[in-house]
Amino acid sequence: MKTKEILDLAVGKAIEADFRGRAAVEKFLERKKEKYEKLSEKEKEVFDLESLTNPYSDSAVLNVSQDKEIKKVLVGIDVDPAEILLAKEIGDVDLVISHHPLGKALANLSEVMDLQCDILNLYGVPINVAEKLINEKIGEVARGLNKANHQRTVDTAKILGVNLICCHTVGDNLAAKFLKDKIESVNLERMEDIINLLGEIQEYKEAAKIGAGPKIFVGSPDSRCGKIALTEITGGTEGSPKIYEKMAQAGIGTVIGMHVSEDHKKEAEAANVNIIIAGHISSDSLGMNLFLDELEKKGIEIVPCSGLIRVSRNN
Ligand SMILES: [Fe+2]
Repeated sequence: MKTKEILDLAVGKAIEADFRGRAAVEKFLERKKEKYEKLSEKEKEVFDLESLTNPYSDSAVLNVSQDKEIKKVLVGIDVDPAEILLAKEIGDVDLVISHHPLGKALANLSEVMDLQCDILNLYGVPINVAEKLINEKIGEVARGLNKANHQRTVDTAKILGVNLICCHTVGDNLAAKFLKDKIESVNLERMEDIINLLGEIQEYKEAAKIGAGPKIFVGSPDSRCGKIALTEITGGTEGSPKIYEKMAQAGIGTVIGMHVSEDHKKEAEAANVNIIIAGHISSDSLGMNLFLDELEKKGIEIVPCSGLIRVSRNN
């Protein structure tokens, strides 16, 4: 497989796992195409045509220096110039894969957050309410990312001739689907039941060994979990803190997320919504592993770095 084919495989897997379902993702792309066609020639010049076929703006091919057959990949949760140098030092790495977005995928991260509206709606939050609150947050995130040095790592990859891609929502969608299936396959009554279930997943077990295992942020081990929502695993980044009150009204009892800010925690407490934080890097690892297993099946060697807890489910 070549670099672009690896990203296409990842995007295909993420569409399969997408909570919205394939038809809704296709509709999203169709709308994007309609909007593109209405643009002026000047606007079309700077439009990223990739976004007409890839619904995840935070997952992209960032550099192809040698369009060769990929046999060995270096994969990290965060890739900085240090990891590009590491790939050079190892010597025979054909491609570096970052989970967190870089370059244009970082600049456009906020575009993927629209997914959160549909997920919240799936769990009973009215779409108009979800959209209003998430749109506020999308603006905030977009402005926040505007100041970043987006191309720093991409430039290093270009100078050193290292192929580079990133797979962000691609990995997060896979983690979210895996966790949703797992949670819904059993009857969970109390918060400690969720913690125990998560603790059986290898990535979380490894994280627990270094003190980063799943934790209850709001609620107690004895609290009844009620309806469990996987609203904070995929969708770019943290949503609006105002959402918890709306979630409670929609009948959600517990949210399982990757990470949560103090502001969000306080709002969840005020709304009587429990929160379990599965873990950030461990959840990112889980999602990436589900995609990396597909590469492994194709004979590609995987070298984990930068926090990735590599677990293979191929055997
Ligand atoms: Fe992450």
